[in-house]
Amino acid sequence: MSGSADSSDSARLSRAALSHAKYFAVEFDPATLEIVMLDQRKLPTQIVYYRYRKPDEVVVAIRDMVVRGAPAIGIAAAYGLALLAFSERGDAKSYLVSNGVASRILNAARPTAVNLAWAIARMGRRAAEVAHDAPELRAQRMLAEAEAIHREDVLACKAMGALGAERVPEGATILTHCNAGALATGGYGTALGVIRAAHAQGKNIRVLADETRPYLQGARLTAWELHQDGIPVEVITDSMAAHFFQRGEIGFCVVGSDRIAANGDVANKIGTYGVAVLASFHGVPFTVAAPWSTVDLACPSGLEIPIEQRSRDEVARIGDQIVVADGIGCRHPAFDVTPARLVTEVFTERGAFKPAQGGKPADLLPPVGR
Ligand code: MRU
Repeated sequence: MSGSADSSDSARLSRAALSHAKYFAVEFDPATLEIVMLDQRKLPTQIVYYRYRKPDEVVVAIRDMVVRGAPAIGIAAAYGLALLAFSERGDAKSYLVSNGVASRILNAARPTAVNLAWAIARMGRRAAEVAHDAPELRAQRMLAEAEAIHREDVLACKAMGALGAERVPEGATILTHCNAGALATGGYGTALGVIRAAHAQGKNIRVLADETRPYLQGARLTAWELHQDGIPVEVITDSMAAHFFQRGEIGFCVVGSDRIAANGDVANKIGTYGVAVLASFHGVPFTVAAPWSTVDLACPSGLEIPIEQRSRDEVARIGDQIVVADGIGCRHPAFDVTPARLVTEVFTERGAFKPAQGGKPADLLPPVGR
């Protein structure tokens, strides 16, 4: 890994960014065979990109939140497995063993976001298909698959953004939680894709961004992204949301997701469930934007979604400042589950469904036999 406070050199790619954005979470530089990632822990005060050459460095980057957001970690893992293919020159058998080992380690880095497991499984299927190719061809094919995952994610974000934007009322103040923007995806964003598309349609909207304690993705990332695009945004502490609902200021909610169960239950950043309860109480639509890679049809309900537990320090400190005295315990589930009955609508690239009215993700599958 290499990195410096001067982002300009590390961020410069030998080709146009697949994210189509002036900043990006993750890209691959084919000229140097390096993965390039923005260190999201340093935003908004520093813009620092790192370059990675080994799959195990990608594991650390995912676990330590250099890259975060469900689709973005899936894309990073896919590029990590492409890197592995460039370094593993052995025969088909040894290549598949190496790919399997790296896949298991990557998979364990963050358990809730199913996009990670989805991308690794897709790369695993491709690895089995190309294992007998010559090493260079095999690696190029693995890279092409990772790039396809990346490109498809950007297209998915644009499609769900256009769909969701139709539901955003003119003049609405939109509440969002965590960061589901370009930084959390291949580019453009899921929830922020809806907001970006509504803004691009000329709707007069403004955004309240929950700060999203403890990791502050809303304050540090969502507000930064929207401000860059000139979309009016104000940050509130998570505890203020109820107040603004009560005053009738919030007309629409949209969030991303890390896993959507077959029954329409939605896992997302801790605090999302509270937003959904408030929205329901105040009669405000609570919507979710997510690519199909977030849907886990093998997971019957939210009860079966694994909830990542992160370190005490993320709660006990804000930056370098200790806010909980040493020796006192802290809890830190990183995600919560919003039950389907509170979710007004889910937007995906395949279309939308309405969990609160009994809609399920499987409603969007093509009819059997076609
Ligand atoms: O812990 P994080 O920052 O990876 O959590 C991210 C979220 O919860 C996002 O809201 C979710 O991944 C949707 S991103 C398109």
